Amino acid sequence: MMTVQQIFDLAIKMGIKADPRGGNGIEEYLENIKKEYEGSRPEEKKYFDKEKLTNPYADSRIHTGKGDSKVSRVMAGIDIEGTELLLASQLEERGKKIDLVMGHHPIGKGLADLHAVMDMQVEIFEKAGVPIHVAEKLMEDRISEVGRGVHPINHYRIIDLADLLKVNLMNTHTITDNLVHNFLKKHIEKKKPRLISDMIETLLDIPEYQEAMRRGAGPKIFIGNKKHRVGKYVLEMTGGTSTSDKLYKELSRYGISTVVGMHMKDTARTKAGEHHMNVVVAGHMASDSLGMNLFLDELEKKGVEIVPCGGLIRVSRVSNKQGK
Ligand SMILES: [Fe+2]
Repeated sequence: MMTVQQIFDLAIKMGIKADPRGGNGIEEYLENIKKEYEGSRPEEKKYFDKEKLTNPYADSRIHTGKGDSKVSRVMAGIDIEGTELLLASQLEERGKKIDLVMGHHPIGKGLADLHAVMDMQVEIFEKAGVPIHVAEKLMEDRISEVGRGVHPINHYRIIDLADLLKVNLMNTHTITDNLVHNFLKKHIEKKKPRLISDMIETLLDIPEYQEAMRRGAGPKIFIGNKKHRVGKYVLEMTGGTSTSDKLYKELSRYGISTVVGMHMKDTARTKAGEHHMNVVVAGHMASDSLGMNLFLDELEKKGVEIVPCGGLIRVSRVSNKQGK
C-alpha cells in the first residue's frame, strides 16, 4: 500500500519527466535554488522554504497529515474547498473512509507561491522562437504581478479546516499540468492537424474533451476561423497561470500562428486578435482533469481507489475503463 509521501514523490517524479524544460533544466533550476539557500544570510535562512530544495513545483505540496499514512482511497478533485473536506470526513461514516484528499489548484503555501513556477514559461516561449531577453523581461513583470495578486488571499483557511478534520491533504498543480502539456504535445504531433477545425477534432479524440463538450465547456475557437491553417502553434497548458498579454505580439512576430490553451482571459484574447493569431481554448476543467487522470491512473494501477469530486472529469486509462 502506498503512503501519502510515496504518492507525492511519484507525482514529482512524473512531473519532472514530463517537464517542458527537460531533466537538465530541472537540475539547473534546483541547483540555483540550492545556491540561493546556501548564499542567504542566517535571518533569511530562517524563513527559507526547504521543500524547494527537492520539489521544483512550489505550487504543489503535502499540506496536512503524516507522510507515512497508508492510502487505499483518494478523493481527488480539481478544486478542493471546505465542502469537499467536510464531505471527505463524512464519507467515513458511510463506510468509505478517505485516506487522502488531493486537489489540483493551488491551496495554502502552494497558492502563496504560485508565481514561483512561472519562470518555466520563459523556456516554453524561447522554444517557440521568442528571443530570450523578450521572454525573460515580459515574464519577470507578469510573475511579480501574479505574486502581488495572490499575496492577500486567505491561503490557510482550507489548511486550518483540514487540520481540524484530521484529513490528509495535498495538491498537485504544475505537476499534472506538465502531464497534460506532454500528452497533448505528443497527440497533436501525431495527428498533425492542418486547419483549426482539425485541431478541434484532434482535441475531441480525447474523452475528457468529449465529456466537457457535453457539459458545455469543450474545445472552442476563441479567435480565428475554423478554415484557418494552424501553422506553427504553441501549447499553453502549464507554467502556473496565464501568461503576459504582451506575449502574443511577440509570438506572432516570431512566427507562431496559433495558441492552444486551457483558458484565456479577454484582455489576452484581444491582444492575440490584434496580432492576427488563432486561439483554440481546449477547456479548463477538461484539461486539468486530463492531467490529474494521467497521474491518478498510476495510483489506480497500484490498487488505490479513486473517488472523483470537485469538478474532476474522471477518465481511467487503466484497462480502458471509462468512468466519470
Ligand atoms: Fe487550472
